[in-house]
Amino acid sequence: MSQISPRKLFITTALPYANGVFHIGHIMEYIQADIWVRHQRMQLGEDDRLYFVGADDVHGAPIMLKAEAEGLTPQELVVKIAATRPKCLNGFHISFDHWHSTDSPENVALSRDIYQRLKKGGLISNKTIEQFFDPVKNMFLPDRYIKGECPRCHAPDQYGDACEHCGAVYNATELISPYSTLSSAAPILKQSEHYFFRLSDPRCLEFLRDWIKGGRLQSEVENKIREWLGKDGEESKIVDWDISRDAPYFGIEIPDAPGKYFYVWLDAPIGYLASLKARLMQEGLTLEDFLSDPGIEQYHFIGKDIVYFHTLFWPAMLKFSGAPYHVPDNVFVHGFITFSGEKMSKSRGTGISPELYLDLGLNPEWLRYYLAAKLNDRVEDLDFNPDDFVARVNSDLIGKYVNIASRAAPFLKKHFDNKLGQDFAGLPVVREIREEAQTIIGLINKRQFSQAVRGIMEFADQVNAYWDQQAPWVLAKRFDVLSEAERTLLHNTCSVALEAFRLLSLYLKPILPRLVTDAERFLNIAPMCWRDAQAPLAAGHVINEYQHLMKRIDPKQIDQLLEAQQATMEQAGGEAKEKTEKQNSSRGGEKKTAEAKTAGVTTISADDFAKIDLRVGRIIHAEAVEGADKLLKIMVDLGEEKPRTVFAGIKSAYRPEQLIGRLTPVVANLAPRKMKFGVSEGMVLAASGSELGIYLLQPDSGAQPGMKIK
Ligand code: MSP
Ligand code: ZN
Repeated sequence: MSQISPRKLFITTALPYANGVFHIGHIMEYIQADIWVRHQRMQLGEDDRLYFVGADDVHGAPIMLKAEAEGLTPQELVVKIAATRPKCLNGFHISFDHWHSTDSPENVALSRDIYQRLKKGGLISNKTIEQFFDPVKNMFLPDRYIKGECPRCHAPDQYGDACEHCGAVYNATELISPYSTLSSAAPILKQSEHYFFRLSDPRCLEFLRDWIKGGRLQSEVENKIREWLGKDGEESKIVDWDISRDAPYFGIEIPDAPGKYFYVWLDAPIGYLASLKARLMQEGLTLEDFLSDPGIEQYHFIGKDIVYFHTLFWPAMLKFSGAPYHVPDNVFVHGFITFSGEKMSKSRGTGISPELYLDLGLNPEWLRYYLAAKLNDRVEDLDFNPDDFVARVNSDLIGKYVNIASRAAPFLKKHFDNKLGQDFAGLPVVREIREEAQTIIGLINKRQFSQAVRGIMEFADQVNAYWDQQAPWVLAKRFDVLSEAERTLLHNTCSVALEAFRLLSLYLKPILPRLVTDAERFLNIAPMCWRDAQAPLAAGHVINEYQHLMKRIDPKQIDQLLEAQQATMEQAGGEAKEKTEKQNSSRGGEKKTAEAKTAGVTTISADDFAKIDLRVGRIIHAEAVEGADKLLKIMVDLGEEKPRTVFAGIKSAYRPEQLIGRLTPVVANLAPRKMKFGVSEGMVLAASGSELGIYLLQPDSGAQPGMKIK
């Protein structure tokens, strides 16, 4: 990475789809990027500039259909979701300079500009293709909205591009008895003209082969691209990219092509530029000037599932659009966050909701620290383990680092009026920690956060060992009778500890911005940047009174979080399917995994509905669950031999005695779920909205336990 001065950094995270609130995977990506951004900011010169931007990715069929299902226009849905963003972004201290939207005027203009430049360059072609069309919904169907029988193993209800049962990969047109998941109608084949970005053009391939040279990318990413591009002499697997969709579609209309829209993935990355442009405009600057600056460095943080879009299409689009557009300097790819080894899943209620995390008062910096302690520069998944989380925060962050300040401060206050000694900055422990500054900064720069944190905690161990070895409390006990030399020794021990604490705070600053701001206030110093590694606290410097810097995690808080998560799941019906929209994966490569296919289905067929065994039940017993804030344990008679046990997250709305004798609809064929308090053997249905309140449903009297609800 060549760095030209003054530096102009442009850094982004992937743009989240606007069909849902943030999940913890988004927050993990933002935290990773934010740590790196804060690190960069700590070393910028006066003339350097850095812009860290994000935006909502709002276009595409799933958002259109989801809005329709909610009775909203796509724009209304987008506005609703956008309103939820600031809480989490601020809550986790993500320091974006701007947050925008891909349906902004800037993005419309930039997308059309880039398209027209590519067209002029001979890189857009058109071709008539045949595709499934839903005659009821009157729209072409993305593969994920088509199901049918697998042509190979004959499993029913398989998605349009791969079988979840046998793993076969095929074209939607090969499905046996296909049907539209939107209307249940049998789709018909219909022709339509589509526009393509000619990624297979030799110019593109040559450029990409060159772009990946020089080891800029992570090796696993580079290998993957080499595979796609074809190793030396091999033919490439790259095909042209279908960038148009027919109306009805929520997207940007293609110039001079009525009824045709850009496929969401065309305008989504351009949204990075739109967001930057909007931010620059606030300062009266132009995107053109900024991008044309020779000092520009453009970096994108993304997850492993969208590498194809960011390392092939995106650089090629920018390259062949020409100046002022700038080809990314790098794309930093991270793995996925998992939970105790399992994939995050909304329907099973695994994972943690960032919003609940904040609502329950958990400290956002605990999560920042924990993720930093586990993140590296590889495309590896990262496991969130509750016990590990508690241990690292309580034993390492607080037990080692915060501990240094809380041990040393009282002595300095009691015996030295909060005034540091004269001659401590060159003493062994602090000197060693200071000499390692470049190592720590280098690790953070290379996104080796876990190694940096490990190093910092080793320093903290050394400081604590030094403290124990000096045993200042022994000297302090006989303070009044200490010799001058002994007083100096005690004074220096406290001062060394506090200077070491300052250095560790500096090293942790990109990870823990809030905590370190408090530490700076305690130390009575100006906000630190990397240069300050070499600027020790001055002799005789007066610090402020120590106030506790961070609370320990009470493991109960984690239990509460996981429970609240489950309760919300049950309220929400728990059935909501995962919404990983990566539609049209047939050309996007990479996404063609069965797991990515559990799409955000907004409409279900009658067959789908019939799979739910809904029954009338009578609640014959209800009680609170010890240790669970939100749950009631309910026994429901379904006219079966034995009543069922159901855990329901309705404690906030109902007292147990109110429920006994009531009729309620029950999902009787829900897979039993093992919870902390027992096995839940069904689900009772309740209504809830964005306002507080949970409302149980009730069949009219006369209905009998066991009756089927259809
Ligand atoms: N809208 C596209 C990106 C367009 S970028 C021009 C998209 N959106 S997304 O909401 O599905 O994902 C946003 C980011 O979150 C992606 O980088 C994705 O890899 C990341 N993650 C989604 N699930 C994740 C985890 N479980 N763990 C970590 N990151 C995850 O893709
Ligand atoms: Zn199959």
